[in-house]
Amino acid sequence: MCGIVGYLGNSVAQDALIDGLRRLEYRGYDSAGAAFHDGNAFSLARETGRVENLASTLRESNPTSTLGIAHTRWATHGAVTVSNTHPHLSHDGKIALVHNGVIENYGPLKRILEGKGIEFSSETDSEVLSNLIAYHYARLEGEEEQFAQALREALSQCRGAYGIAVLCVDEPGFLLGARRGSPLVVGLGDGETFLASDASAFVGRVRDAVYLKDGEIALLREDGFRIITMQGEDAQAVSQPIDQTVEDVEMGDFDSFMEKEIFEQPVALENTLRGRFGDDGTTAKLGGLEGHEDELRRLNRIVFVACGTARHSCMVGEYLIERLARVPVEVEHASEFRYRNSPKAGHTLVIAVSQSGETLDTLEAVREARTKGLLTIGITNGVGSSLARETDGGVYQRVGAEIGVASTKAFTSQVALCAMLGLALGRMRELSPIQGREIAEALQNLPENVASILQRGETLRELAHKYSEAEHLLFLGRQDLYPVALEGALKLKEISYAHAEGYPAAELKHGPIALINPECPSIFLVEEGELGAKTIANMQEVKARSGPVLAIVPEGVEVPDGAADDVFRVPAVHEVVRPIVATIPLQLFAYHFARIRSLDVDKPRNLAKSVTVE
Ligand code: G6P
Repeated sequence: MCGIVGYLGNSVAQDALIDGLRRLEYRGYDSAGAAFHDGNAFSLARETGRVENLASTLRESNPTSTLGIAHTRWATHGAVTVSNTHPHLSHDGKIALVHNGVIENYGPLKRILEGKGIEFSSETDSEVLSNLIAYHYARLEGEEEQFAQALREALSQCRGAYGIAVLCVDEPGFLLGARRGSPLVVGLGDGETFLASDASAFVGRVRDAVYLKDGEIALLREDGFRIITMQGEDAQAVSQPIDQTVEDVEMGDFDSFMEKEIFEQPVALENTLRGRFGDDGTTAKLGGLEGHEDELRRLNRIVFVACGTARHSCMVGEYLIERLARVPVEVEHASEFRYRNSPKAGHTLVIAVSQSGETLDTLEAVREARTKGLLTIGITNGVGSSLARETDGGVYQRVGAEIGVASTKAFTSQVALCAMLGLALGRMRELSPIQGREIAEALQNLPENVASILQRGETLRELAHKYSEAEHLLFLGRQDLYPVALEGALKLKEISYAHAEGYPAAELKHGPIALINPECPSIFLVEEGELGAKTIANMQEVKARSGPVLAIVPEGVEVPDGAADDVFRVPAVHEVVRPIVATIPLQLFAYHFARIRSLDVDKPRNLAKSVTVE
């Protein structure tokens, strides 16, 4: 949700800023802008649309400044216009600011500033902050550390969430940043220092980073940096090596990040699972849960909180954990949980799942759970993320940067970790060593099974082509394949803009069947055994009403003649990994379906990857 980059160093800032913005474009791509310190004024370039538009403007003006800030926007307050595009300058031209987040009390603050004769040129909440900093800067004239003090004073008046980078015309050697609620990281290079929403912005130029904590301010100077608190006291700055590589954040030979990330899944799953099985091969060993064994043995309820695709992984987790560990599981939308007064029943474990570890609603749900004294565990791909820091324990997904807005490898890894958690909790309860070993082996064979589906990607491209004119599609499955159906429908609608809905297969008759006609295909996920036979019966109900049917079916399961128009076979696997195996064809189907429509799958309309506002 908006990406920010700041650069202070001995090279031309525009290259570093544009490279950084390109890498952060997954956070928003409504408009982009940059401000450069030009000695006694700022030069500003702002364009609506993609970062490329800004890049071509900068190629013409070619600023040579070595100090600048830049922003790629996902609009919250104010339409997508040049005047609402960041950076925002203060009325007196002294302060330039880029902001990710929302200043909730910007209305009253704006009125106070207007009362002092300050005029605004945008509809954004962010411009209020640049003017507020300028106001305090003028007021504190002559004081020590005038710029940092003005920033602290301004922030103390703001409610809401922010990650900001700020420049002051009168302070040519300074770049300031601050965070509350939105991520901000300092990149420490050789003769150059960065500020960014995410370390991917400077991977390849910088080896070490300092992840700011909420309530911290970074003061970057040409000759070093300091981290202070909002009260002005020195804070500890722990630098750590960046865990991403240039290959992680670049597309390579693929057509899009989404395609790259779909095809990375065998390796990604291997990384998620590596070293996480007990020595006797019958259980899962999740380091981040160590020290909580007594609580895990005692717990009698699990509540998952998450948003979007991550929530679908939790819904699969509900089936898996209840089956393996016999612990009751509930899955909540994080945005609902945080405002609900849910009863604090028994020994409840709250598990928050978030690829980025920065989704605001998920973080607030964790904070609410902790206020209620509940044990919280995070499953996240975001190393050093807010979720990783704010939970009592956690497990990293280890799948590398996921840049495509539509989540793919993060989803399958989250489901794999739910299965691992189910295995670990199950072995603490009634699951036998033999059952445990079968599950561990099924998980270890998963990368190979996934790879075998990816090899048949061309068949899925042909199927997507066949159905690509449909504007309404249904995705249907039972049990753990029901959330997979939801995920298949979400993937398709978010990148192709076709309308798709996921339903439990048997629920078809309670409404969605009314949509069935020759233009509305149904995609069925079929399991083995008795339930699979019932799903096939549902397929026949659709066929009887002239609805086209594409069925994803395990090897060995017989599909009667006439029950489906197309059958795509997946390997017959243990039921614990079945949802992951069934997901892969749906990802490729959605990907090709959107590409056939010539859509940009990495930057779908109106979406952003990391939602750091409510
Ligand atoms: C956004 C993204 C989704 C993602 C969701 C949760 O909606 O577009 O792809 O699943 O946020 O993100 P998280 O980082 O918490 O997993």
